[in-house]
Amino acid sequence: MTFASLSALVLAFAATVQVAQAVSLPQKRATCAGGQVTANAACCVLFPLMEDLQKNLFDDGACGEDAHEALRLTFHDAIGFSPSRGVMGGADGSVITFSDTEVNFPANLGIDEIVEAEKPFLARHNISAGDLVHFAGTLAVTNCPGAPRIPFFLGRPPAKAASPIGLVPEPFDTITDILARMDDAGFVSVEVVWLLSAHSVAAADHVDETIPGTPFDSTPNLFDSQIFIETQLRGISFPGTGGNHGEVQSPLKGEMRLQSDHLFARDDRTSCEWQSMTNDQQKIQDRFSDTLFKMSMLGQNQDAMIDCSDVIPVPAALVTKPHLPAGKSKTDVEQACATGAFPALGADPGPVTSVPRVPPA
Ligand code: HEM
Ligand SMILES: *[C@@H]1O[C@H](CO)[C@@H](O)[C@H](O)[C@H]1NC(C)=O
Repeated sequence: MTFASLSALVLAFAATVQVAQAVSLPQKRATCAGGQVTANAACCVLFPLMEDLQKNLFDDGACGEDAHEALRLTFHDAIGFSPSRGVMGGADGSVITFSDTEVNFPANLGIDEIVEAEKPFLARHNISAGDLVHFAGTLAVTNCPGAPRIPFFLGRPPAKAASPIGLVPEPFDTITDILARMDDAGFVSVEVVWLLSAHSVAAADHVDETIPGTPFDSTPNLFDSQIFIETQLRGISFPGTGGNHGEVQSPLKGEMRLQSDHLFARDDRTSCEWQSMTNDQQKIQDRFSDTLFKMSMLGQNQDAMIDCSDVIPVPAALVTKPHLPAGKSKTDVEQACATGAFPALGADPGPVTSVPRVPPA
């Protein structure tokens, strides 16, 4: 077969698949007590939970500290999954159910606040701890303009055991160690980069306790690509002032750069993928959605769960464009990817200001 006839065939096939999908779209079947419609009556429990979380945890739907923490919690829960060590709990809510153990892990410093903030929702709603952790995280993301709408499946059974110590990566770990840990959990290096889009809506309270709420990019309330851009600017010469706490000094006043993010942006195994995320919002959305969903299902049996994705709200679109921070130009970019150039980006017209802290919850 010639290439042309082969691609014609592929196109014809793709068209057939599209028609088939259009015909088999799930019917809206259940009308919930509050009047909402969803694909499955079991998902109705999520509407009052969503309202409660938005009002009483996320400060009326903000992409602030609590939303950031709720997203971080999904990682610290799910990454407690290690087939090589026979640890199969994963995204099971053990970080809440066995919080007495897990919040004491050094890598979980600060996680106790969001764990305690989420516990009352378990008492008020008929939902497992695993479903709460991963629903809250998926919902939290939708409060950040530019974020994807990530699928959500309901039905995580109660966690059986606490996760063992040592499975959550730390910012002073080497890239080799972090990639090995993530590979053990089922993520290849590009997927680790995709997941780190989460640091677009993030700040640190405990990396340097003297400056709580210090963000990782200049726009911690937007799910954008600034984290990938700003980590590529020349920093203060490595290893910076934070030393063994895992901090590298960002050239932007008021911004913190994790040593691990700094190195991911420069390591041969990840730098080109990192760079590819600087200027492609659709890619950030699609890849983050795929990998965060995958992470939220670690250790779970999807076939035994209910697809409640239609409950998740549609996030606001991003109205800003990828840009260099005010006062920066191409010469401030520390090119790392060996096979492609950093994209030409305009700079924010200014003035040069300090990046404000994320206010405490
Ligand atoms: C892979 C290696 C990773 C390392 C070493 C790492 C490390 C850190 C550190 C040290 C902080 C600051 C915590 C504090 O001091 O308050 C942080 C914050 C955060 N991380 Fe990560 N992280 C990683 C991956 C991820 C992933 C995969 C996610 C996806 C959910 C994620 C989501 C977040 C979020 C949302 C915050 C902000 C929390 C807040 O602002 O309160 N991180 N991370
Ligand atoms: C709680 O949810 C489970 C399904 O997850 C259901 O079987 C049970 O009937 C519910 N309980 C109440 C009190 O609604």
